[in-house]
Amino acid sequence: MVVPVLTIDGPSGAGKGTVSRAVAKLLGWHYLDSGSIYRSLAVAVLAADLDLHDIPAICQIAKEMSLEFDCGEQLIVKLDGRDITGQLATEATGNTASIIAAYPDVRAVLLQKQKDFQRLPGLVADGRDMGSVVFQDAKIKVYLTASAEERAERRYKQLIEKGIDANLHQITREIEERDQRDQQRASAPLTVPQGAHYIDSSSLTIQQVIDQVVNLVD
Ligand code: DC
Repeated sequence: MVVPVLTIDGPSGAGKGTVSRAVAKLLGWHYLDSGSIYRSLAVAVLAADLDLHDIPAICQIAKEMSLEFDCGEQLIVKLDGRDITGQLATEATGNTASIIAAYPDVRAVLLQKQKDFQRLPGLVADGRDMGSVVFQDAKIKVYLTASAEERAERRYKQLIEKGIDANLHQITREIEERDQRDQQRASAPLTVPQGAHYIDSSSLTIQQVIDQVVNLVD
């Protein structure tokens, strides 16, 4: 039996996480936050104080790490049995994740861990290459984006709400740098998958985006 997959790709801060979680809940489907897999690896790499150019050592950690996801109201992630949820959202983790995600060997190691999420009754998969690489046969593909300024503003608010110190100018610059890195890397770059529904959320509410996406599913 084919397990239906809805992919939601797009740049950081476009609202993919909130939208994907809400849509998965409405449909009663599983949810894959693929960015958190790259972020978890980044946490492990930073903890091991590895040189970010040492690709074999990063791959070794990726192969050996054990990840547990609890996708309830709030995503809880355990790395080798330790709760690392609090470390996932930091800018250092996000930037490191973006750097190591550019390595094809690293992506190859993490591929199966992502495919394993495809279980009945269905999967909502959120990331950069869900529709273009990991779940190419997905039934429905969405590309969700927003302007860099709007995304920086949203990220800034999220961090301040979490009590994390933040600087809007720096976040805007980092978002632009991260977009460039994610879009220009040779391996599985961020791209609009063929056949994807393109949604620009800059002037939409989250609820409007959720409604648009749910309406794509029969
Ligand atoms: O979505 P996010 O900000 O949590 O992702 C963190 C980084 O992980 C992002 O900058 C690029 C990388 N990533 C990726 O390369 N492929 C994915 N499917 C998801 C994330």
